[in-house]
Amino acid sequence: MPKITFIEYDGTVHEVDADIGETVMEAAMRGSIASIVAECGGSCTCATCHVYVDDAWLEKTGERSLEEEEQLDNAYDVRANSRLSCQIKMSEELDGLLVRTPSYQGR
Ligand code: FES
Repeated sequence: MPKITFIEYDGTVHEVDADIGETVMEAAMRGSIASIVAECGGSCTCATCHVYVDDAWLEKTGERSLEEEEQLDNAYDVRANSRLSCQIKMSEELDGLLVRTPSYQGR
């Protein structure tokens, strides 16, 4: 079972076990990560599941889709390593994934 470490903007660290095939957002919801809102439930239409992928994991998490890019235009404090966590599917390869959350989820 791959693990994800979430570091919230205030420094709170959470380690969550993810199921293979679920998204990082779904694991965050189960793990009660308060700084991930996920208003749209994972349909890539709200941008409130924004995370910063640690640089060491950028290659393994892959590229943003065009749809994701468009939604990120609505997110706050977007950076080069910004992703929507509902668009990252967990696999064994992502065991140990580290993401950080922004200080605000919204526009
Ligand atoms: Fe809405 Fe990810 S949960 S865009």
